[in-house]
Amino acid sequence: MTATAQSSTQADKTTIRGRLAARKPITAPPEQKDDTLQVVRRLFAYMASGESRREFIKGLTIRLIGVLALVAMPFFTGMAINVVTAPGGDFNQLLLWLVLALLAGVLYLGFSAVGERILARLATTGLYKLQRHLFEHMQTLSLSFFDRQPLGELMSRVTNDTEAVSLFYETAAAPMIRAVFQMLFIVVVMTLLDWQLMLVALLIVPVMLLLTAVVQRISTPAFAKLQEELGELSGFQEETIAGHKVIIANLRGDWAAEQSAELAGGVFDVGTRAFFTSTVQFPLTQTLTMLEIVIVLVAGSFMVLAGDTTFGVVVAFMSYTALLATPLSDIANLTATTLNAAAGGRRVFAIIDEAPTVKDAPAASEFAFQGGHVVFQDVDFSYVPGRKILRHNTFEALPGQKIGICGPTGAGKSTIINILTRYYDIDQGAILIDGQNISQLTQASLRQQIGVVLQEAFLFSDTVMNNLKYAREGATDEECIAAAKEANAHEFIMQLSDGYNTMLTERGANLSQGQRQMITIARAMVANPKLLVLDEATSNVDTRTEKLIQAGLQRLMAGRTSFVIAHRLSTIRDADKILVVNGGEIVEAGTHDELMAARGFYYTLYMSQFKGKAGEISADAVDFVST
Ligand SMILES: Nc1ncnc2c1ncn2[C@@H]1O[C@H](COP(=O)(O)OP(=O)(O)OP(=O)(O)O)[C@@H](O)[C@H]1O
Ligand SMILES: [Mg+2]
Repeated sequence: MTATAQSSTQADKTTIRGRLAARKPITAPPEQKDDTLQVVRRLFAYMASGESRREFIKGLTIRLIGVLALVAMPFFTGMAINVVTAPGGDFNQLLLWLVLALLAGVLYLGFSAVGERILARLATTGLYKLQRHLFEHMQTLSLSFFDRQPLGELMSRVTNDTEAVSLFYETAAAPMIRAVFQMLFIVVVMTLLDWQLMLVALLIVPVMLLLTAVVQRISTPAFAKLQEELGELSGFQEETIAGHKVIIANLRGDWAAEQSAELAGGVFDVGTRAFFTSTVQFPLTQTLTMLEIVIVLVAGSFMVLAGDTTFGVVVAFMSYTALLATPLSDIANLTATTLNAAAGGRRVFAIIDEAPTVKDAPAASEFAFQGGHVVFQDVDFSYVPGRKILRHNTFEALPGQKIGICGPTGAGKSTIINILTRYYDIDQGAILIDGQNISQLTQASLRQQIGVVLQEAFLFSDTVMNNLKYAREGATDEECIAAAKEANAHEFIMQLSDGYNTMLTERGANLSQGQRQMITIARAMVANPKLLVLDEATSNVDTRTEKLIQAGLQRLMAGRTSFVIAHRLSTIRDADKILVVNGGEIVEAGTHDELMAARGFYYTLYMSQFKGKAGEISADAVDFVST
């Protein structure tokens, strides 16, 4: 392979491409062993197996009858020519052959159109099924999969790679089969007519096959590389678009454009190489065909003169040679599309074949809620093997208690929540809820009962109402509005242009951060979970909003065992128990007063925040004046 390919394996970190390559996402080992056929067969199964099987056989049969009619045409015209060239030709016989040829033409048209329609519909269904499978599978994957995978790259898989695959379904899958059968039928008819002339006509086949093989050899790695480079490019671009605020704020627009251009340059190089090999193919094929027709004509003429065959057969053979070239070149051209699709398909299947790391135990039971008594017993956890994040975590939350979690950044607070909701499995120890070990419960039944409100409130591009309803299937409008009132969100929602029917833009960008949080709280209320997890749900909002949010949260937490991660210690002052986490260990635990009295880590943390508060208080005062 060439320099471009090597740069990704050796990962020269001075260039953006090198850095991206060094990140090494889970991509299937690129084109090490040639599994193209296997991938194509798998792609094909989406369109032709299962419930589509019968329809596929029907479409194919109709299409093949069309091909048979096509192959019959030269035979009938050949016979007509023989009648004309024979001494004392019979006019009725001539008419018969001509009518037959015409009939074959009409049949060819009709059957091809109907068959093609069925197959095209199946192709669309096939692509749809693949995309749905990919998407549904991604929903089942554990969080650790998404940690390993840059989001942009993943998006590119879903878009670019399935697009390459869609071309396969639309233009290659069915035509490929038709081409193969057309060739087969022609060879059979030629053999029946004159096997010697058949051999001459088939001279073209090995030449064309050789050509295809050469192109495939050059194209396969080039197309695989192209998909990879496209993934990197759009991955980078998606990231840049998602992070455009950061880029603008840091005046890094030029930088982003430059990096993007560098990546695009790579795509261009590889793309040119990949497609060049497949584009020289078409003119080459045509030239070869014309040459072959001349060869058939010359050889045939000699055979007619020698009395070995008739002129009609030679004319039929000339048509067959032309008809043979179409499927041959089709196959060659479609090979390019197919190879490209195989490269995309391989990457799509790499995701589809990925197994979730967090699995339900074979005899997993449903979580039976009995008040919400949570116990961590000597829990150890690491995201990446060998790098312990949590050590010997032991604590207990009684039913209905509010547990505050605090500690410096990176201490492992969110991690505690991640394993409580079993987004990740722990290394050692046990987590019990109401006496049930969560590793023995189904993930669905567990998560159904745990509501999570994250600081980064995620909202879908949908109406406010639908964002609320998202929390629970079957939630009614009334329930959602009641929840919004509880969460103090009703008032501002009513002031939006369309009230509850206001469309939120992607990720709720047309709302303020505080408003987004209030909607997330309302959403959690709609879900009505038995346990609650709040990860820094209150920060970066003005004091009035924070008070509203706090009031909403208090109502949400009432009567539910809740875990509240807070950077502002004031939010967890009233907690029944505060866990102080540092370096993955719970270094202190107790109520605010106990911890303050102990004058330990919490005390220092609290005092340092309290000192910083002087400025904040005056800012709050200004805020109140303005509202
Ligand atoms: N998905 C992940 N994969 C690998 N390591 C991770 C992952 N998420 C977090 N970590 C690491 O685990 C440690 C604890 O992270 P965690 O998110 O729990 O911190 P935190 O206490 O919530 O911090 P913050 O207050 O900043 O939110 C950090 O060292 C972090 O680098
Ligand atoms: Mg965190």
